[in-house]
Amino acid sequence: MQNVSELVEKIINEESIIYAIFSSLRNKSEKTFNKVTVKKVIIKNEVKHQFEYFYDKKVEHKNLDKDETKAEINKYFQTYFKQALINTVDSDYHILISKKGIAKISKKQASRKPVDTSHNRKKKYILNEGERTPFLIELGIMTEQGKIVNSKYDKFKQINRYLELVSDCIPYLNKDKTIRIIDFGCGKAYLTFALYDYLVLKMGYNVEIVGLDLKENVIKFCSDLAKKLSFDDLRFEQGDIKGFNQFTDVDMVISLHACNTATDDALAKAVSWGAKVILAVPCCQHELLKKIKNDVMIPMMKYGIIKEKLSTLLTDALRANVLEIMDYRTQVLEFIDMEHTPKNVMIRAFLEEPQNIDKLVKQYKEFKNQWQISPYIEEAFGNKLTDKLD
Ligand SMILES: C[S@@+](CC[C@H](N)C(=O)[O-])C[C@H]1O[C@@H](n2cnc3c(N)ncnc32)[C@H](O)[C@@H]1O
Repeated sequence: MQNVSELVEKIINEESIIYAIFSSLRNKSEKTFNKVTVKKVIIKNEVKHQFEYFYDKKVEHKNLDKDETKAEINKYFQTYFKQALINTVDSDYHILISKKGIAKISKKQASRKPVDTSHNRKKKYILNEGERTPFLIELGIMTEQGKIVNSKYDKFKQINRYLELVSDCIPYLNKDKTIRIIDFGCGKAYLTFALYDYLVLKMGYNVEIVGLDLKENVIKFCSDLAKKLSFDDLRFEQGDIKGFNQFTDVDMVISLHACNTATDDALAKAVSWGAKVILAVPCCQHELLKKIKNDVMIPMMKYGIIKEKLSTLLTDALRANVLEIMDYRTQVLEFIDMEHTPKNVMIRAFLEEPQNIDKLVKQYKEFKNQWQISPYIEEAFGNKLTDKLD
């Protein structure tokens, strides 16, 4: 285990602190605070750490930037406190300082979930008009002068929204190693290039990204562009999601607008690899349209368009529930405003420790029975899922 200052350096750089409490003064006679708590906050678009100092009869606050935070916390360990509990996104750390000033650090599984620190956050985009961005220029979204092409504003907005959703996933990825990401059904790969630009050029992470697509011409286009941009750890391969067996472990799986049951195949691959993060925006969910039966719902289902929408919702609800059953904390989010695309639902899932899933399984089975369906996702997941459903 690293020493305390290394640990402080790491967690502050990663912005992974959720809450920390420093207590047990070394010198009780010293007239100072008795306890200090720390939490991460976003102020004017910047990450700060809010320190709360508890005195006998008052509490004071300070918001410190990263360097100030590191110095302040290191000072506590060197001078003030004998113990600290630091909750981060990845782990809990309990730190005890001996009389001789030697630190003992115990690390446990994370017990707190990140809180939304964005209450006073102004809308901030990751890519900005006016900032010359080579991949956007090559893809015809930005001019050489850094202006967004009028007809490409929606695409630009979509890319930014996507990166915003990706940025929330960063705490769940292990940045101490190369982060391996697969983008299934990458197509012309606007979003794959955006992801690489963000994670490697903006965030400085070690990343290996593979974009997979069925179409040969698309793969050639993307491979040439990656080379031209010197995106060295981004490569593209032609192939079918189902048959992609190149890796045994992958950290993050992305599947955006892959048609019909290709999304199920992507989810199945992700779960089989134990991917920490999954992002899927389903599309063309035709599979259940012909399968669903539900006498009570005839007043809805007799109208074609309504039945179609209903089967789309059912498909995605089943997918989200299956991911929960497979130990993923799953969210269903709006990807982009309806006015830009009807394919606006994103399933975002994070691998968690196994929990009791009896209730989930019961609900899932009853739901399926109600609609008299056996969805393709069960076939795609195979025994891994059916064992849990039995
Ligand atoms: C609508 S495009 C989406 C492209 C890109 N992901 C995006 O959101 O901009 C869907 C892509 O998925 C690819 N695709 C569909 N099924 C696939 C499969 N089973 N294996 C690999 N690629 C697939 C198609 O060739 C197509 O390029």
